[in-house]
Amino acid sequence: MAFNRTLITAALPYANGPVHIGHLAGVYVPADIYARYLRLKGQEVLFVGGSDEHGVPVTIRARKEGITTQQVVDRYHELIKSSFEQFGISYDIYSRTTSPIHHQFAADYFRAMYDAGQFVEETSEQFYDPETGHFLTDRNIRGECPRCHSLGAYGDQCEKCGATLSPDELINPYNAETGNALAKKETKHWYLPLDRYQAWLEDWILNNHKEWRPNVYGQCKSWLDGGLKPRAVTRDLDWGIPVPVEGAEGKVLYVWFDAPIGYISNTKELCDAQPEKYGKWEKWWKQEDTRMIHFIGKDNIVFHCIVFPAMLKAQGYNLPDNVPANEFLNLEGDKISTSRNWAVWLNEYLTDFPGKQDVLRYVLTANAPETKDNDFTWADFQARNNNELVAIYGNFINRALVLTGKYFEGKVPACGELTEYDKQTIEEFKNVKATLEQLLDNFRFRDALKEAMNLARIGNKYLADTEPWKLAKTDMNRTATILHLSLQIAANLAIAFEPFLPFSSGKLKNMLCLDKSIGWADLGRIDLLRAGHALGEVSLLFEKIEDAAIQGQLDRLARIKKENEAAAQEEALKNWRPEPVKEPTTIDEFDKMDIRVATVLDCQPVKKSERLLQFTLDDGMGGRTILSGIAQSYPDPSVLVGKQVLFIANFPPRKMMGIESQGMILSAVDADGKLVVTSVSSPVKNGTAVG
Ligand code: MF3
Ligand code: ZN
Repeated sequence: MAFNRTLITAALPYANGPVHIGHLAGVYVPADIYARYLRLKGQEVLFVGGSDEHGVPVTIRARKEGITTQQVVDRYHELIKSSFEQFGISYDIYSRTTSPIHHQFAADYFRAMYDAGQFVEETSEQFYDPETGHFLTDRNIRGECPRCHSLGAYGDQCEKCGATLSPDELINPYNAETGNALAKKETKHWYLPLDRYQAWLEDWILNNHKEWRPNVYGQCKSWLDGGLKPRAVTRDLDWGIPVPVEGAEGKVLYVWFDAPIGYISNTKELCDAQPEKYGKWEKWWKQEDTRMIHFIGKDNIVFHCIVFPAMLKAQGYNLPDNVPANEFLNLEGDKISTSRNWAVWLNEYLTDFPGKQDVLRYVLTANAPETKDNDFTWADFQARNNNELVAIYGNFINRALVLTGKYFEGKVPACGELTEYDKQTIEEFKNVKATLEQLLDNFRFRDALKEAMNLARIGNKYLADTEPWKLAKTDMNRTATILHLSLQIAANLAIAFEPFLPFSSGKLKNMLCLDKSIGWADLGRIDLLRAGHALGEVSLLFEKIEDAAIQGQLDRLARIKKENEAAAQEEALKNWRPEPVKEPTTIDEFDKMDIRVATVLDCQPVKKSERLLQFTLDDGMGGRTILSGIAQSYPDPSVLVGKQVLFIANFPPRKMMGIESQGMILSAVDADGKLVVTSVSSPVKNGTAVG
């Protein structure tokens, strides 16, 4: 369908912490590249974002930091907004869901659906803290795991054994914050009956949006195949937008109901403030010739492809045309986590690498998790900066400009006759605009960036092959032509990289004194700079990143990893419970085991094995050798020498690593996961039976 403008949204980040590289790579850089690209093409674009300031995450953060929820959202909204500005995320508006306009708009939206009979009401029993008077869900509820019986499992998952749980399965559930035991209490909520939209959604997505990314389409299909059920859109919480109907005291809109409406209310805030520039907000949300694109991470797919579209459909709004969701970015092999501080925070990056916003934009795009999860490593960051931005793009620009300064007083030299090689070089990039557009139109930012970099490679190779610094001694005409063509490529690079690396492109345009009227439409031309055109002052486009800076980052991560491991151990010790007692057995069964006492004469690690210790025992019966897989618990096995231990004497011998083991030494797994050999406290004759 023909459209005349594009509304771009980027997921509203929770204001419960700073934003990190995962956010930037997954959502904000691609959204920004796309917005810049369309603007460069002269299209009418609105790029809307803001902070998501409701929901449980911000309240948890407030309790953790000992400040009010309002203080939390104020702090992080400002921090996030400023990080986005500094990274050049070119929002037309970045507002927040605690704004009065949003509160009003979201409440009205709910009310309109309520009045139209588009919700179902249902009363159910929910967990409730009798002391605080609060209803609790999922992560705010903890208790004993029904599977592994460790304490402190969450209402949605046991982190010890990995089991997926529901709060109802927990044994002795308690309030995660207060520790109070929970009761159940009836409460009424409003549900969005997604089942009513099932047939329509199937047709809309599965039949009419086959072009969506496979990960997005696939997730939608599996939700739809599973059959949609009504979803509660209200919550018993005291932070959020009050439910605007009678009999809903103490209830607020579910954060996933109000947050996406933030895209609309923020559009309204902007349009109301500057109607002459942006028009009426309805133009962006209700007019058929407006196209909408949602940029999100994969954990947001169901909300943007199923829930929010159902809400939009119910009230006659436009639906998204595409939802290019990214997969996740990991950090040095581990999942990025706000609570574990396993992240590169944008505000910290800006302090550690001032002025290097484009470097991070480059690395995150070059390594974007478009089709699968990807890993960010500092080594890759350094390599991409030093070997690509500096050695290819930066080197080419610097050579072209410095040589022009040296031989032609900083003025674009005239173009002489083109050689075959010149023509071949021009041929190589004449399609750059069409190629870039084809990729960008299909949200393939990673490949598009590669294409822009390829243009820099062409330029760099051209100079390396033609060596004008040598030719200058003998053939000034040829030197002039080479630099003329190089400068045309440089001008093309400033344009081609503009959606991706806006700061560097700005700098390069200044160095080239590129005419303001030259833009995306001119990409691929070789007459962007006239002979005689004076260039500006030359400086380095990119700088090498030294090992020390990278080591500093790796050291920081190593420190955090240590802290996390210590915290996890402490948590494990706190939540340790003895295993449940096994099935009943009999004395006869037990009698079959021959358990004896022996003294450890020698204990050595087994060569080439990380696990095994070799025990030489005086068992009172001529001695024996036993291998035990506890090396990791005993870095210095000599501490065991002289101890009396218990072993099973009548297991059949077994060969491991070429050594015969004649039994099994008894040991206990301590709460922290370490094995401890059980030993006898007062001396007993070796060979004594235990029973
Ligand atoms: N705050 C959510 C998250 O970080 C995203 C909200 S997107 C919106 O996962 F559509 F709800 F705004
Ligand atoms: Zn468990």
